[in-house]
Amino acid sequence: MYLGLDLGTSGLRAILIDEAGAVLADAEAAFDVDHPHAGWSEQDPADWVEACKTTVAAVKAKAPEAFAQLKGIGISGHMHGATLIDAADKVLRPCILWNDTRSTDEAAALDTMDGIREITGNIVFPGFTAPKLAWVAKHEPETFARVAKVLLPKDYLRLWLTGEHISDMSDSAGTAWLDVGARNWSDAALAAGGMRRDQMPELVEGAAPGGNLRETLCAEWGLSGPVIVAGGAGDNAAAACGIGALGEGSGFVSLGTSGVLMVGRDSYAPDAASAVHSFCHAVPDRWYQMGVILAATDSLNWLSRNLGQSPADLSSALPDTASGPSSLTFLPYLSGERTPHNDSRVRGAFIGLDVAMDRTDLTRAVMEGVSFALRDSLEALKGTGAKFETLFAVGGGARSRFWLTTLASTLNLPLSLPAGSELGAAMGAARLAVCAVTGASPDAVMTQPETGDVIMPDKALTAAYDDAYGRYRALYPALTRKG
Ligand code: XUL
Repeated sequence: MYLGLDLGTSGLRAILIDEAGAVLADAEAAFDVDHPHAGWSEQDPADWVEACKTTVAAVKAKAPEAFAQLKGIGISGHMHGATLIDAADKVLRPCILWNDTRSTDEAAALDTMDGIREITGNIVFPGFTAPKLAWVAKHEPETFARVAKVLLPKDYLRLWLTGEHISDMSDSAGTAWLDVGARNWSDAALAAGGMRRDQMPELVEGAAPGGNLRETLCAEWGLSGPVIVAGGAGDNAAAACGIGALGEGSGFVSLGTSGVLMVGRDSYAPDAASAVHSFCHAVPDRWYQMGVILAATDSLNWLSRNLGQSPADLSSALPDTASGPSSLTFLPYLSGERTPHNDSRVRGAFIGLDVAMDRTDLTRAVMEGVSFALRDSLEALKGTGAKFETLFAVGGGARSRFWLTTLASTLNLPLSLPAGSELGAAMGAARLAVCAVTGASPDAVMTQPETGDVIMPDKALTAAYDDAYGRYRALYPALTRKG
């Protein structure tokens, strides 16, 4: 039996699977994101550990006999977060998350360092880990001086599970300290940010063993052990493993807190200038590319908070099928934007409000604006030579048919839905554990799920969405605070 743990931005999900991938139990526990200042986004790592204890207990209670035969654990988590620990493994400050933009100046400075984009394959975005440490060095020098290790969120969970400082290639690729082509820490990139190799965890591939469950936890959870913890993956690479998107042309579009358009690549073909992310995949010798927008369902959640109506209620007021773009345009830059603008200072907007419009019009515009932002990512990815043969739609926002039909016509691509329930990154993490324990080949384990519905673009509407996308594109320069 194998446990997949996915540490998401809003909560932790645990699933228990057998070797064939059948789900025997699952559980979720929520936690909060703190925004102590505009542009800041933090979490207390102790909340992750609590959520892990809660979900593991729930999974164990649901399937006690299967849980007792646990052989491996796979871990996945939101990427880029800086969890700083001292020499005694004590957390020094709240984790600074992927959508935190306080280190804009530090990122811009690192991004101009000689050779940094060539080494890391990416722009140094403010959300990445390296500029966060540069911010801490400048604003919290006493904390910086005590940093013994920097761990990504899922690797802090691993520290609690195993007692070891280990990370995997896919998650480490998002730090701006990794030589992404060579799959190793880069001393030059580390030195650029005043960091040292001994402050980094040891690296393993995602599908390889990355520690053993501590004996005390084995005893507490009633396991005879040994239980192997796999290298695991950043949440997007893990979601790709869950959906069988390993190779060229196979990918997903995710309507989660962030919005992601991801596609597997058989070779390493970075194009940093396009603001496309090029990262190691969770399996050896593979990479992937993605466009990332910072607020997908986060935009709908923002609207829902301010209108005092749940996202599900707002969505249910819309028809199942989109019938063409509205005259109201929403730009979803609530936390700035990564692809294609790399602009952490820009902020969102509604343009074209009319006195006759109501909350349903706003909801529709939000879903359209997020779809246009993902079209930006599609255009950037096409520029790198990426192909899109199979695209699964995943994430909480994919529950809205209106959003899916809008997105399919905006991207002008068919969107496949998995037939069963979507288990995303937790399933990918559990599959990595299967590989780490059994030595099975990732291609044999990371198969595509059965396809349920396929949402086709409406050919009668794609020209209208193209025009609306053109209007959306033209609005960005009016919002930018650059220069
Ligand atoms: C990817 C990114 C987000 C987080 C949160 O670069 O920042 O997708 O991983 O899910």
